[in-house]
Amino acid sequence: MKRILVTGSNGQLGQCFQKLSKEYKDLQFDFFDSKELNITNESQIQNVFSKSKYEYCINCAAYTNVEQAEKQSKTAFAINADGVALIAEACKIKSVVLFHISTDYVFDGEKDEPYITTDIPNPINEYGKSKLKGEQYIEEILDEYFIIRTSWLYSEFGHNFYKTVLRKANAGETLNVTDAQMGCPTDANNLAKYIIRNLILQESQSYGIHHFTDGVSMTWFGFAKEILRINGLVSSTKVVKDNNYRSFAKRPRKSVLKNNY
Ligand SMILES: NC(=O)c1ccc[n+]([C@@H]2O[C@H](COP(=O)([O-])OP(=O)(O)OC[C@H]3O[C@@H](n4cnc5c(N)ncnc54)[C@H](OP(=O)(O)O)[C@@H]3O)[C@@H](O)[C@H]2O)c1
Repeated sequence: MKRILVTGSNGQLGQCFQKLSKEYKDLQFDFFDSKELNITNESQIQNVFSKSKYEYCINCAAYTNVEQAEKQSKTAFAINADGVALIAEACKIKSVVLFHISTDYVFDGEKDEPYITTDIPNPINEYGKSKLKGEQYIEEILDEYFIIRTSWLYSEFGHNFYKTVLRKANAGETLNVTDAQMGCPTDANNLAKYIIRNLILQESQSYGIHHFTDGVSMTWFGFAKEILRINGLVSSTKVVKDNNYRSFAKRPRKSVLKNNY
């Protein structure tokens, strides 16, 4: 039986893996939340990696608050870069294949065409810089890894744009949404399925950097309208284009990823 260690298990993607794991009786998942396995804590990592023999580690742990990262850049780097390096080192020592989740925010958003995996990253905010550093550590440390860049994750779990739009629409609020950025919304459940089915069970891809999104690009404004349409809330909700949103972090203008599967 293949044994899989999942970090950051109480986050949005971690919870998608918890849900999906119930479908796979021949895979043994061990889930660790941020208290049970803090990826910045070397001895905790060593402890967890020595207790069981893992084939795979799926790293869902990350510092994901893009706005806060501008003010707490040290913490973002400690988790998204140094913590990732510690996980990669442990994977190397124990011959564990690492699945690491990265982001469209490693790009500056100035390319008009969708980004391919070999495009040169150029992050424009601290979150993106910390995630790129994490990628670079993995590439230095490991040979057997998958770095999966994704974008605009949403699901029934955690905090995300989809849930915010639904909550506000159901409360009768007007939605003020920017159309200044374009990206590919991605159901985090689809990402979890892709990793389990395609990468782990079918072994359909080779090691390295991959791009996975749901494949349709839109603006946040377009995404909000789509969420309202799917949920039958178009006629009851007012949506206004609003590009005055005050953000500490610069956002890539067009961070559309081209899928490579
Ligand atoms: N959300 C998006 O739109 C998006 C887009 C592109 C890429 N990604 C990437 O996708 C991955 C999953 O994102 P997500 O949406 O699931 O994020 P999330 O909901 O914020 O989950 C991240 C998890 O990491 C945990 N964590 C934070 N610091 C940790 C540490 N030092 N040790 C262990 N765990 C720690 C958090 O635990 P606590 O809550 O206890 O701190 C949380 O459970 C991340 O790598 C993210 O960068 C996300």
